[in-house]
Amino acid sequence: MAFSTILLYHHLLILVLFLLHAPPCPAAGGSWSILLPSIGISAMHMQLLPNDRVVMYDRTDFGVSNISLPNGKCRPNSTDCSAHSVEYDVISNTIRPLMVLTNVWCSSGTLMPDGRLVQTGGWADGYRRVKIYKSCSKCDWKEIPNGLNQQRWYATNHLLPDGRQIIIGGRQAFNYEFYPKMSASENSPSFPFLVQTNDPNVENNLYPFVFLYPDGNLFVFANNRAILFNYSKNQVVKTYPTMPGGQPRNYPSTGSAVLLPLRLKKGIVESVEVLVCGGAPKGAFANANNGRFDGALDTCGRIKISDPNPQWVMETMPLARVMGDMLLLPNGHVLIINGASAGVAGWELGRNPVLSPVTYRPDNQIGSRFEVQNPSTKPRVYHSTAVLLRDGRVLVGGSNPHDKYVFTNVLYPTELSLEAFSPSYLDSSSSSLRPRILSPKSKTKIRYGKRVDVTFMVSGGVDLKSVVVTLVSPSFNTHSFSMNQRLLVLDSGNSTKALGKSTYKVSVTAPPSGNFAPSSNYILYVVHKEIPSTGIWVRMQR
Ligand SMILES: *[C@@H]1O[C@H](CO)[C@@H](O)[C@H](O)[C@H]1NC(C)=O
Ligand SMILES: *[C@@H]1O[C@H](CO)[C@@H](O)[C@H](O)[C@H]1NC(C)=O
Ligand SMILES: *[C@@H]1O[C@H](CO)[C@@H](O)[C@H](O)[C@H]1NC(C)=O
Ligand SMILES: *[C@@H]1O[C@H](CO)[C@@H](O)[C@H](O)[C@H]1NC(C)=O
Repeated sequence: MAFSTILLYHHLLILVLFLLHAPPCPAAGGSWSILLPSIGISAMHMQLLPNDRVVMYDRTDFGVSNISLPNGKCRPNSTDCSAHSVEYDVISNTIRPLMVLTNVWCSSGTLMPDGRLVQTGGWADGYRRVKIYKSCSKCDWKEIPNGLNQQRWYATNHLLPDGRQIIIGGRQAFNYEFYPKMSASENSPSFPFLVQTNDPNVENNLYPFVFLYPDGNLFVFANNRAILFNYSKNQVVKTYPTMPGGQPRNYPSTGSAVLLPLRLKKGIVESVEVLVCGGAPKGAFANANNGRFDGALDTCGRIKISDPNPQWVMETMPLARVMGDMLLLPNGHVLIINGASAGVAGWELGRNPVLSPVTYRPDNQIGSRFEVQNPSTKPRVYHSTAVLLRDGRVLVGGSNPHDKYVFTNVLYPTELSLEAFSPSYLDSSSSSLRPRILSPKSKTKIRYGKRVDVTFMVSGGVDLKSVVVTLVSPSFNTHSFSMNQRLLVLDSGNSTKALGKSTYKVSVTAPPSGNFAPSSNYILYVVHKEIPSTGIWVRMQR
């Protein structure tokens, strides 16, 4: 063998060795930026409103926050003159303090069809409160004492096709109720499923994962199993198998869940799937209270609930995670963000923050769905939050594993900052592919089953078969669950066509009824080759 050939083999060998030692999963994307170093409170609950403001609140018994109430106001009967709720204006990147009178800690809420945020429950003097926030530049919370029949602490809410919200469970509340009530005497039907899934020592079924199934029933997941539930008849319609492994996924074992994108075709959705990821193993709560922090779960269970005989399919995440948030991105991918890799939810009970988000592509083959994203520098553990913004960024806030504001000499100081994660679809390298919506106008009313023409621009030309229109609901996020979260891929029948140079039109059919998308505010996106436009607010109406 000639010397030069030996040299070539030698070089090839080095190359092969190099490739073998390269990181196995090099793909990483997305970027982080701090929006505000301090918003004064720790964003424990967040809701995006249809005027691009985000309401946030923590709790009234955290002590004095880092933002004062306006005009020297103080809470009645309290020496605390600081705010525990704020309104963040996305466009101007500014904060305005709001006043909650009673404790909103670990509560829940729903954006109502008229754009008001209706918050329910909380702790102590907040147990049975309903609080309503209608956004305007001087508006503040209004409170309804005894607005609830039962005490609701760690409950889950969902908007219903009739425009009301259902409020399910809460600590020692094995029942559900509605807001507003049909009548003053409307009761709170009992919900035995919450008794059956309640581990008496740990609970593990708080903040149940609830989704509106497109036939009008509710999918409810608690602890390690799920049912389909007719709330009007108070009847279990279907019982799903226990998730393999039987590990708990709800608070304080706090995993997260999403209803995967609903693809409409000729007025129906053929496949309805739920994905539940992460959490903490059985016994982790007791162990964490004794100073032993069990590794978080690295599994997800995915189930096609529309199958006649649905079964869980298990998948493994690249990073184990407890207290993660799962968000549907405008292009139908799932983002898993925030949380820790050991311990459970609760004061001082989480360890080893997971700084890197992970994306999940539901349509890829098993084994090639997850991709680790670039990390943040800020631990976001217990009481952290994330919501999708209209421009496609993800707003990230909160994290306070202490029962007061604590900034020094602790593992994970109280986080007052607000941060944004920009998924890689916002990279400037994609700008020639990015659609810009020209019509309809923002706030357009869309009627069930009717055609909607959407015109848009794309500077770099369009692959006509790679355009989809999605509708995303603004969800209420707390404790790693986004209530009311859903994404619909509208039926376009491949109707995209060019109108002129760089302008295009796609005609889509609106969802057939409120069972698919309750009448309310949604963000409409045009997505081209998985790159979403900035969305526009639209209003689904009868
Ligand atoms: C509290 O707010 C002030 C500005 O009002 C800021 O300088 C300070 O860093 C904030 N404290 C924390 C812990 O973020
Ligand atoms: C303040 O305290 C007074 C006297 O105890 C009570 O009547 C009133 O309802 C309290 N106000 C609030 C907002 O809690
Ligand atoms: C629930 O049950 C009631 C009473 O039988 C029925 O009218 C309603 O259609 C059912 N809901 C669904 C979504 O099937
Ligand atoms: C659009 O075209 C693609 C590729 O030709 C096809 O697979 C798909 O079924 C079409 N979709 C509709 C809604 O007609």
